[in-house]
Amino acid sequence: MSLNFPVTLVIPILNESASLPELLQALKAQSHRPDEIIFSDAGSSDGSPALIEAWWREEGWANASCSVLSRLGAMPGAGRNAGVRAARNVWIAFIDGGITPAGDWLEQLCRHAQATQAPAVFGVCHFSAQAPFAKAVCALSYGHGAVHPVIPASLFARQVFAEIGEFPALLRAGEDLVWMAALQARYGTREVCKAARVSYTHFPTGWHQALRKWRVTELHCVLAEVRTGQQALYLLGLPALYVLAGVGGSVGAAVFVAYLLLRGMIDPTRRSLDRPWWGGRPGAALIALPLVAALDIAKWVGIVQGIGVRLVAQDGFGGGSMSTAETWQPAFVGKGQVRYYSLARHALIEALRLAGVRPGSRVLLPEYLCRDLLAPIHLLGAIPCWYPVASDLATAMPPADWPVADVVLAVNYFGFPQDLAPFQAYAERTGAVIIEDNAHGYLSRDQAGQWLGCRTSLGVFSLRKTLRIPDGGALWLGEAFAASALPAQVPFDGVGVHPAQLIKARLRSLPVVGKLAYRLTTALARALRKLRTGSDVPAADPASEQTLPASAHPWAGLLPALAGCPAPTEIKRRRSAYASCAAVGEQVGAVPVFADLPQNCAPYAYAFRGDAAALAGMRRHAARHGFDLVSWPDLPTEIVGQAPAHYCNVFLVNFLW
Ligand SMILES: Cc1ncc(COP(=O)(O)O)c(C=O)c1O
Repeated sequence: MSLNFPVTLVIPILNESASLPELLQALKAQSHRPDEIIFSDAGSSDGSPALIEAWWREEGWANASCSVLSRLGAMPGAGRNAGVRAARNVWIAFIDGGITPAGDWLEQLCRHAQATQAPAVFGVCHFSAQAPFAKAVCALSYGHGAVHPVIPASLFARQVFAEIGEFPALLRAGEDLVWMAALQARYGTREVCKAARVSYTHFPTGWHQALRKWRVTELHCVLAEVRTGQQALYLLGLPALYVLAGVGGSVGAAVFVAYLLLRGMIDPTRRSLDRPWWGGRPGAALIALPLVAALDIAKWVGIVQGIGVRLVAQDGFGGGSMSTAETWQPAFVGKGQVRYYSLARHALIEALRLAGVRPGSRVLLPEYLCRDLLAPIHLLGAIPCWYPVASDLATAMPPADWPVADVVLAVNYFGFPQDLAPFQAYAERTGAVIIEDNAHGYLSRDQAGQWLGCRTSLGVFSLRKTLRIPDGGALWLGEAFAASALPAQVPFDGVGVHPAQLIKARLRSLPVVGKLAYRLTTALARALRKLRTGSDVPAADPASEQTLPASAHPWAGLLPALAGCPAPTEIKRRRSAYASCAAVGEQVGAVPVFADLPQNCAPYAYAFRGDAAALAGMRRHAARHGFDLVSWPDLPTEIVGQAPAHYCNVFLVNFLW
């Protein structure tokens, strides 16, 4: 009997081209086919979207649609949320790339929903693997041959999302556990349809992949605040076990062997339905023993990293729990797309590429600039050329007189909006692409209320300069670049630009003594540097004009930290820090670089010029508030010899302590 039960099927994907053919074939073979399929692509670089489109052109069925939403960088939860929002049906089913449904999977779910009138029906997933290593991973996690209810096999009425909310959007793992807990809290028992079956076989096949998966999953579970009891047990129990094994003599060794047998032999047997779970592959049973020990260590590392991220995010942003995190969308998302990096310089490389920069292209830069910024240009083989800047850091020469270039950089110094009119006039005359360098101005807007960094089609952010995080840069692309081929989001698995940044962030996040510990350590490091090099600030490094100091991969905590930033409070904090600096500056004779603080502007520093007395006065004020006072910038080699005085006498009170 045919079913009148229209369903939208939502499928988040990222580089799934190897497993997609099997899934697509299984979708076509469904006894009750979805009448709408929405793939949510997180930025595949393996041709997955094209594969889906070609499949639908050739194999699509009548009265149905299939679309691929582009959600670059989206975590699985965010991908599902995007699909749910776009869905036209009342009923929405989920499946994931890599999972294969049985022929009657969707029909069983729908019939069950009709019969029970339940708003949520869980299907079940059968877990198994072929290769010995993958078999061991499967047995140690879900159990070999085991069957569990999972979200990517299940059917939900739209009202469920209205009642319990969307999936946590920023978690790579654990988002399903958080959402299932909310579902359980709202509806009580879970409706499971055991006849609606899917299968999963794509377990990691190598050590590196498995250990990374375990570490990252647990890190995100800590962020999601799920499995907290188990995490506490691991955090303390695992080191204790190893200490005991090392110093506890024969008792310690016996306890350790018991742990290995329990975790590596008894536990996988308990979890698995297949007997023996390794089937005809006894090698899998041998792998399980060392593998479980390694996976437990990876999990422990993930827990520690997760706690570190939470400490940093909570201290820096006034409470970084994931629920608050999601109420704030990063300011630059707007209508554009975002890619995250460890440094703004990596974002600039991509911006320059998108703007068409090739070896020999000319990139027009302000003379008043930090020398580091030349590295992206040199790395692409492009040639820098220059326009002068006045003492108020506006352009100092009519754009008609600027040298001709392919790209021009407009800088919002210290978070103050640069007047873009001369740049637009220049772009009109020469066809140059404007990149808005908003490294200093995350959360700052111009008088018209437009977010800085989003006023042209390409914007670059150095998030770590305005927020208390160890690293973070971003590239924002406006609609003009919507159709451009953007590379996939690089993984969020960096450890901070420089380990010292991470240590500083951790120190600052210590309860009560954090501020003091941070200041003492910084003072000590500076004193040691002065002893060694004669200067308490790092020496200018000409090599920074040629190379970048870190990989592009951002810190794992970047998105939670960004989302956890209470923007209105942070904007207020910066504006009032600026106002108090300006008031003190007036008393001590400092001359602000900008005559006033415009509406909507959220500067990250107070920039001033002045004599020794002004400098001493501002230094006292900065020290009282735990702020740094530095001179800026370290000018490029090409400029420093001929720089006018107003490029060389600017000091900043930086509002990050
Ligand atoms: C104007 C400007 N843009 C970009 C950057 C590069 O930022 P990041 O250090 O995150 O690469 C800097 C660094 O000082 C800068 O001052």
